[in-house]
Amino acid sequence: MSAVSRRAAIGAPAAMMLAAGACGAQATRPAGETRTLVAYFSRSGNTRVIAGQLHRELPADLFEIAPARPYPEDYEQTVAQAGREREAGFRPQLAARVPNLSAYDTVWLGFPIWGQSAPPVIRAFLAAHDLSGKTVRPFVTHGGYGLGDSLSVLRADAPGARFEPAVSMEADQERRTMNQVREWLAKARPRAANP
Ligand SMILES: Cc1cc2nc3c(=O)[nH]c(=O)nc-3n(C[C@H](O)[C@H](O)[C@H](O)COP(=O)(O)O)c2cc1C
Repeated sequence: MSAVSRRAAIGAPAAMMLAAGACGAQATRPAGETRTLVAYFSRSGNTRVIAGQLHRELPADLFEIAPARPYPEDYEQTVAQAGREREAGFRPQLAARVPNLSAYDTVWLGFPIWGQSAPPVIRAFLAAHDLSGKTVRPFVTHGGYGLGDSLSVLRADAPGARFEPAVSMEADQERRTMNQVREWLAKARPRAANP
């Protein structure tokens, strides 16, 4: 499944949770049953799959971190925009904030590596939420180049939080998928032109 269709398929329920009041699980679980929150950003779906599993299996409430203005569908445009934002130190506005952060003492924080670091929207999330005194457990997906400076960025942006060791996972990279599709097309096109 391509990253784009995966995003559409699993993005809709998350968006509905967000619209329903940010923490979808709170609607189905009695208040106060969990003091654990899974907060995540995911553009193409890899991190969202892990967040969903944590939400179900811990269990924990779920919050999707999203910029108020979504990133472009196009991968290359997103890479270019993210690079500009990183260089400028830009923090995008958030679509929503966690309304009841004080209800949680543990936050699993999920995101993909962007430009060898944490995406700007994660830095915006940390700037907008006081995680002092809370336990933060990062879970990170990347395209094969590792965590970069993301963990030191998190520590700097949430100085009062107690960080547990991060868990990270290499996941499908949209660029790799696109390059494979380009190879298919390069082979298929001459055949299509000369059947
Ligand atoms: C703007 C952008 C920048 C990226 N930069 C890196 C990088 O520096 N290192 C890396 O290993 N992967 C990089 N990736 C790949 C993603 O980290 C990887 O595909 C991740 O699993 C995507 O997670 P998501 O599907 O939850 O959005 C980048 C992807 C994007 C869109």
